[in-house]
Amino acid sequence: MSFIVAIDGPAGSGKGTVAKKISELFGLLNIDTGAMYRCITLEMINQKINLEEIQKIIDISKNIDIDMKENGTILLNGKDVTKEIRSKEVSGLVSQVSSITEVRLNMVNLQRKMAENKNVIMEGRDITTYVFPNADVKIYLDASVEERAKRRFLEMQEKGITTTFDEVLENIKKRDENDRHKEIGSLMIAPDAAVVDTTNYSIDEVVNKISNIIKEKK
Ligand code: DC
Repeated sequence: MSFIVAIDGPAGSGKGTVAKKISELFGLLNIDTGAMYRCITLEMINQKINLEEIQKIIDISKNIDIDMKENGTILLNGKDVTKEIRSKEVSGLVSQVSSITEVRLNMVNLQRKMAENKNVIMEGRDITTYVFPNADVKIYLDASVEERAKRRFLEMQEKGITTTFDEVLENIKKRDENDRHKEIGSLMIAPDAAVVDTTNYSIDEVVNKISNIIKEKK
């Protein structure tokens, strides 16, 4: 038997930070599914494949070796790509890569396998609706687009990535639009998900709210 906490929400809603803290509090394996689509995108860039070469991107998604360590390190074919997958180039292309249906199906299979017989917290865009519609706990995290862009901008500055607030805001708006209109796995609110708006709350307050929801279900 496994216990599954599923979290969905748009870019910058706080999923990554919150999921990490909750995973530590409840001893859950933390699976960041956005990082998986980012790995495929990075591999595509490294192999100089463009977005029109759909079959080549699908082939990457079939054979890719992604290893998520408990400390948050992400290995792609054995190499540490934790920082690289957050680059501007990857962020600019990842939503389109994740719109390719076969790529999604391959990732969904992998995500279900990764969670088999484990207690996990999995975050992404389609976890509550498509990957684990019967998850024990379903959360939709949200925040205003300006607040989300502000968070991402600060995060990127901390990582030493050169960018502007307007550039980040534009990227997030484009990704929102794309992520909400996919053939399968579009970002939407599951009818039975608890919606948590994080705009005016600190990370700790959000973690507390979600912890209480999990405790009620356990
Ligand atoms: O959460 P993130 O920003 O790292 O996600 C990167 C992209 O991957 C995002 O634009 C949407 C896509 N994604 C997806 O389509 N399905 C998921 N389960 C997770 C992410």
